[in-house]
Parts: sequence; structure tokens; C-alpha cells
Amino acid sequence: MADQDGPGPLPSTSPVSPLPPNDPTGPTSPSSPPPPTSPKRPVSSVTQLSSLPAMSPLAPLFDTPAGWRPPTVDTDAAHIARVYDCLLGGKDHFRADRQATELLLRANPHLRDACRQQRDFLRRAVAHLAGAGLRQFVDIGTGLPATPSTHQMARAVEPGARVAYVDNDPIVLSHARVLLNDGADGTAFIDGDFRSPEALLQDPVLRSLIDFAEPVVIVVTGLLHFLPDHETPARHLKTLMDACAPGSHLVLTAGTADLAADLARATAAAYRQCSIPCRLRDDREVLELLGDLEPIAPGLVPMAEWRPEGAVSRTVRARQIAYGVVARKD
Ligand SMILES: C[S@@+](CC[C@H](N)C(=O)[O-])C[C@H]1O[C@@H](n2cnc3c(N)ncnc32)[C@H](O)[C@@H]1O
Repeated sequence: MADQDGPGPLPSTSPVSPLPPNDPTGPTSPSSPPPPTSPKRPVSSVTQLSSLPAMSPLAPLFDTPAGWRPPTVDTDAAHIARVYDCLLGGKDHFRADRQATELLLRANPHLRDACRQQRDFLRRAVAHLAGAGLRQFVDIGTGLPATPSTHQMARAVEPGARVAYVDNDPIVLSHARVLLNDGADGTAFIDGDFRSPEALLQDPVLRSLIDFAEPVVIVVTGLLHFLPDHETPARHLKTLMDACAPGSHLVLTAGTADLAADLARATAAAYRQCSIPCRLRDDREVLELLGDLEPIAPGLVPMAEWRPEGAVSRTVRARQIAYGVVARKD
């Protein structure tokens, strides 16, 4: 179904790095981490896949804000945010992340396309909701900077949109500290965890930017399939949505084996091999995550088929490994 009342197409997604690269072996983060101090993990099968160059510590590129501390980052383990950045063609990843990416692409050669389709789904969903008058967005599990970011997606339609970003990864945090400020320009970054929604909802920066008495869009894309059931994602979503005014919406993606089953299962197995949990959910399980929320048209559909801007090719349809849905709180 085409989006009749949405905006025109934006530039396609591309990862960005706020600063030029200074070392091909590490991230181009302005707040690159110190040499690893954490104990070495056991060498996994993933580490044998590539002969990429060894890590070297990077010098800070410029002064950091008072009180800032370098993030503690385990560079020996692949991390969701950095693997995703690698899949999207970004520069903010370490050797373990590149090795994990290699393993994932062997399992599913179309995974880069799936990641881009997820960013495109997010853009269409945010643009649609901004076009419907929603002005407040809370993007949980933000990821490393990608262009367009959620606030750029929203402001392409609604220039006054306010966007709070939330992530629990220190490298995402360090980028965000450079790119965003604490609400002054209508964007802010909160160092928060989806699994602690009560604490998140109390965050003073979040509350200074987002008025929960007015409708809010809660964005949770590319995150839920990394949360097993024992992390109780449905309960956290309910806590978040209960705090939101009627007319609020939830934007969600969820990995599934309902569609391209073999690709989805191979992808999930490869993530697990990299010690990243991956829980695929069927349509009933994803709808359960929504609780009382009502999916808006076209409902729960393969991600690329949610209000597409053009025809979705048969090839793309055949490779879908995630659902996309936007649901409304009445
Ligand atoms: C695959 S990226 C998705 C990025 C973006 N949402 C998108 O759809 O393009 C997943 C992000 O979720 C973050 N994340 C993972 N677990 C989280 C948690 N419990 N709370 C907050 N963020 C989390 C990771 O650090 C990473 O940046």
C-alpha cells in the first residue's frame, strides 16, 4: 500500500561519521576508547574468520566536556550497535565487529539490504506520523549515527519535532554527546536502558524535552529481536506506552522466521555464534508485544511492505526477515 498522504522520498540511508577517519583499524569516534582493560574473552570461532589488522589505541581528537569519562568498551566482543554500523557501511567498529559481520554475511548475504530496509521502514513510519501531527519522538536503541537520523526524518515533515534518543552503549553515547545537546535544539541523548523503563521515564533530560501529557511516538526498531523472553520486552513496552498520552504510537520491528524462514534462522544462528542473543518471533508473538495497542494500516507486515514508496520487488519480498508495525494507543 502506498503512502498517499506522506512526504516525498528522502535521500536513502547512509551511515555517517562526524569526523574524518584517522585509523583504519578502529572506530573514527571522537571519543575513541582507551586500550582494552577488560579481561580477554575466550577466543570464539568468529575470531578465526578474518586476518584483519590488530587494534591500536586512538588519541582523542579534541577536548571533551567537563566531567566526561572515556567509555568502558569491550572491544574483544562483537556489539550489536557496531555490527549494525558495519553492516550499514559505517566506520565505527572494531575487529571483533567486522569478524561478526563477516560471519553474518556468510549466513545471510542479504543482511545489509535488510538493515537498510529497516532504516527505510523507520523513515517512512516517522514521516507518516510526523505528517499526521505527531511532534515528539523517543527513539530507544538509537544505534550509531546514520543519515538521516530520526530527528532529520521527522523534521523533514514537521520542523518543530523533538526527538529524544536512548541507548545503553557507551560508543553510541560518545557519538551522541558530540552530535546532540541536552534538549536545547529539540534533540537530546539519554544514557538509558530499554529494560529499565521506569528509570528511563524519570530521566530529567527526557522529561524536559518530552511532554508525556501530549502524544508521543516510541520508536523501538532493530532491538527487540536481541531481547530474549526472559528480558520481558512486552512488559517494558507496556510500561512505556502506559506513560504516554492517548494518541501516542509505537514503531516496532521484530525479526521473524514467518517470512524467509531459512535466511532468518541462519541469521539468528550467526548472531548467537557471535554471543549476541537473537529471538525470532512469529506474528502472534509480535502482536502480543503490542498489548492493547491497535496497529494502523497496513497492520503487521513484512518491513519493506509497510507503506512502501514504490513497488516492492519479488526478490525483496522473498528475503524479508523482519516485521514492521506502527500501533496506536487510544
Ligand atoms: C541494531 S541497532 C538499531 C539501531 C536503530 N534503532 C535502527 O533501527 O536502525 C540496536 C541498538 O540498540 C541498542 N541497545 C541494545 N540493547 C539495548 C537496551 N537494553 N537498551 C537500550 N539500547 C539498547 C544497541 O546499543 C544498538 O545501538
